[in-house]
Amino acid sequence: MEAVKGRDAIVCLLTGTIDDEVFKAAGSQCKIFANYAVGFNNIDVKAATANGVLVSNTPGVLTDTTADLAWALLFSTARRVVEADKYMRAGKYKGWAPMLLMGQDITGKTLGVVGSGRIGTAFAKKAIGFNMNILYHDLKPTPEFEKIVRGSKYVSKETLLKEADFVSLHVPLLPGTKHFISDDEFRVMKDTAIVINTSRGPVMDEKALVRALQNGEIWGAGLDVTENEPEFEPELGNMDNVIILPHIASASIETRTEMGLMAVKNVIAALQGEVPPNCLNPEIFNS
Ligand code: DGY
Repeated sequence: MEAVKGRDAIVCLLTGTIDDEVFKAAGSQCKIFANYAVGFNNIDVKAATANGVLVSNTPGVLTDTTADLAWALLFSTARRVVEADKYMRAGKYKGWAPMLLMGQDITGKTLGVVGSGRIGTAFAKKAIGFNMNILYHDLKPTPEFEKIVRGSKYVSKETLLKEADFVSLHVPLLPGTKHFISDDEFRVMKDTAIVINTSRGPVMDEKALVRALQNGEIWGAGLDVTENEPEFEPELGNMDNVIILPHIASASIETRTEMGLMAVKNVIAALQGEVPPNCLNPEIFNS
């Protein structure tokens, strides 16, 4: 609250909850809260509009970077890369063995993409190179997704969960997507399935994930986000079939630089009385 007082513009992070109280603390001279992230579940945009404050985000520049990290998680989980590295460093490798650290194939498998927005589309597009059968689910079919991801098929949530070897989450955190994957969903998945989450932690019920892994309902999980960051369910830390990263999906030098520039461009536009290029509440200019 102290930090925002008297500022003309604020660049905020996804770790800061920006609500009515914060807008009021910032005061009426503050023109914009420019989020240094594409996801803006940390900001109450309605309250911003009610307080006459602009809000912006950083879409587009992190699409491929985030999709790439989702693939890194998928590969590392399926082929047990992190576990194998730890094994090596622990001096356990005594020579090649037929059954050592066997994982899951990726090429030719069925990929389930939940969320057909920018990042989901970029992620799915990369699967074409691996000859995958690509299923996707969203509120409704997305022609743009199907155009870019040739051969993909829109299916119900249940069909996707039932048929996918890999389920990757690319939806924003909204009231309707909280715990989108929970006990019932894990039960439907194949026991060889791997779930990847690079969206927001609460999209997946983390306690349910622990239960699903303990009961052998799925095979593994690759997480870039957890439900209560920076915390995670302690059981996950003891599971070799789980990879947990500290929310680094957009963390490449190029992308984080672009995100910073974008946030600053939004700030400059707002201070000049113009609609910021990535404004989330342009209706302010009409009121
Ligand atoms: C975002 O932008 O929403 C990511 O989670 C961090 O880059």
